[in-house]
Amino acid sequence: MSNQRIGIIGAGGHAKVVASTAIAAGYKVVGFYDDDPQTWGSHIFDIPVVGPISELTSQSCSHAILGIGSNEVRKRLAEKLNLEWITVVHPFAWVHPEVSLGVGTVVCAGAIVQPYAQIGSHVILNTKASVDHDCYVGDYVHIAVSHLAGGASAEEGAFLALGSVVFPGVRVGAWATVGAGAIARKDVPPKTIVAGVPARVIREVS
Ligand SMILES: CC(C)(COP(=O)(O)OP(=O)(O)OC[C@H]1O[C@@H](n2cnc3c(N)ncnc32)[C@H](O)[C@@H]1OP(=O)(O)O)[C@@H](O)C(=O)NCCC(=O)NCCS
Repeated sequence: MSNQRIGIIGAGGHAKVVASTAIAAGYKVVGFYDDDPQTWGSHIFDIPVVGPISELTSQSCSHAILGIGSNEVRKRLAEKLNLEWITVVHPFAWVHPEVSLGVGTVVCAGAIVQPYAQIGSHVILNTKASVDHDCYVGDYVHIAVSHLAGGASAEEGAFLALGSVVFPGVRVGAWATVGAGAIARKDVPPKTIVAGVPARVIREVS
């Protein structure tokens, strides 16, 4: 790990969390890369925002990680860029040894992942997320401070917002959102946004 030079894609709020997680896990972060020219030349924790994403190559950084909160954007960039991705787990997270974590996934401080959970690639398990036993979490999912109970699932690109709860065995469909504070007692159809207690559909994802 010590000779890996890590580049972070993105220079916004989530990039700060990803960088702090990577540093706490012992990686050497050498730069941020963002397509917004207004960020170039600025610093985060004394680490420079070097320039556009196209400047992140295997010469500048041996490995990379996506520091972008949008599930759609992470998918687009992961499919487009030919980089070596790292998987990062904060030392103050707990991931049971019988858990599979995909490439590019970030497990932030305070997150807990219980046995036999399967976690896909480029997933965000954000601060204090909890994923219980036998859960399935697809690629590009973002779980904020949220609880996924045993045997529940979140399919590709799903977003579980702050304070949401998914009941045991319940399935959240691909690219669906469970709104802040919602309690999902029944399956959530793909590409729908649910909110409230109990969660009800408020609209479809455009
Ligand atoms: C669910 C969510 C995505 C909906 O956003 P939206 O599509 O822009 O919805 P709107 O703000 O237009 O609200 C539509 C209706 O749903 C209601 N609503 C929205 N979010 C709600 C929620 N979390 N709980 C209860 N009702 C909610 C609104 O009050 C509104 O009701 P009305 O039509 O009677 O006035 C958003 O409210 C949310 O929860 N965002 C999560 C933020 C978050 O956790 N970020 C994570 C950072 S790490």
